[in-house]
Amino acid sequence: MGVTPGDRRELYIGLMSGTSLDGVDAVLADLADPLPRVLAHAHRPFGSDLRLQLLALCTEASDEIDRAGRAAQSLARQYAECVAEVLRLAGRDPAEVRALGAHGQTIRHRPEAGYTLQLNAPALLAELTGIDVVADFRSRDVAAGGQGAPLVPAFHAAAFAAAGARAVVNIGGISNVSYLPGGEQPVLGFDCGPGNVFLDAWANRHRNVPFDRNGDFAAAGRVDAALLERLLAEPYLDQAPPKSTGRELFSPAWLAQALGEVALAPQDVQRTLTEFTARCIGDAIARWCAPARDVVVCGGGSHNVTLMAALADAVGPRPLQTSSAFGIEPEQVEALAFAWLARRCLRRETGSLAAVTGARGPRVLGAVYPR
Ligand SMILES: Nc1ncnc2c1ncn2[C@@H]1O[C@H](COP(=O)(O)OP(=O)(O)O)[C@@H](O)[C@H]1O
Ligand SMILES: [Mg+2]
Repeated sequence: MGVTPGDRRELYIGLMSGTSLDGVDAVLADLADPLPRVLAHAHRPFGSDLRLQLLALCTEASDEIDRAGRAAQSLARQYAECVAEVLRLAGRDPAEVRALGAHGQTIRHRPEAGYTLQLNAPALLAELTGIDVVADFRSRDVAAGGQGAPLVPAFHAAAFAAAGARAVVNIGGISNVSYLPGGEQPVLGFDCGPGNVFLDAWANRHRNVPFDRNGDFAAAGRVDAALLERLLAEPYLDQAPPKSTGRELFSPAWLAQALGEVALAPQDVQRTLTEFTARCIGDAIARWCAPARDVVVCGGGSHNVTLMAALADAVGPRPLQTSSAFGIEPEQVEALAFAWLARRCLRRETGSLAAVTGARGPRVLGAVYPR
């Protein structure tokens, strides 16, 4: 089977591995119609070796080039296995897929210095999958003077547009919001601040688990008002968009500094960090997306019940729903966005929004590695 002339289907794969470093999500989608249709989803968690290698590469250290080279190969092999899995689940053949969009793993994001680096091995990925690969989505926007992030707002607008104003929040390692004003006004979007990074780090340190499943650990604690106030004093939160951030700012050192010498129970810290994460998002919506009538949430953080309850308070009285209500599961949205961006790249359509990233104009994003 292959792509035959007259075939109306447009099958694309999107691969996303975000700052949470939890693993890779792949979706296979039919993008022939304006509303994308997910045919299958696969997730492969990173093994702890790869996770630690990638995490280490997020911080400046020696021997980075060789370590990055090796980690990129492992990453591409994980991606290829996830692609094979999603094709198997859908009963499809690589030849039927027009392209796959592979975001790569962000290990450095310094748009102010002119670069952002998503670790990837797209040539190896094309070799292993037999599918055209689109990679390196962010650097063209940075070259055009933009933040290179977030890139999902255009897709959020395509998938979740409403008659009235709406905010779409993605809670990955970092959280970002897209503001869809409705009508002809431009879509806005920016990184709010931390998403799951600190929730994962604290749960890992005190519970030896990768994340606080359902927010149960946080639910056992109480918010410490003084700590919450110190966390919320971070200047990035007050900075007006366009803005983007990452693990460079919201690092273990940042958390250690904010915690200081506090003698709180670990569950109280977990609860306070959860409240802080919700407030970063809620405050950002109140300040820069005030007319939004409702809020749609996607990303893995939407499975954290304690976080979602805190977020419902923080954005209230606006109703809060997850993307499931619109037919796309929360853990599929980002991967689907990169399938959608890959299609735009092949069609030489722009993928970025200048009002979001601050670039001189919208650009065609990505580099193509033919199969
Ligand atoms: N059941 C759950 N309970 C609490 N948190 C969850 C759950 N499932 C996923 N998560 C959170 O979601 C994260 C992964 O989210 P994801 O959207 O993949 O982020 P990223 O794009 O940064 O990789 C995990 O690290 C974890 O913090
Ligand atoms: Mg992830």
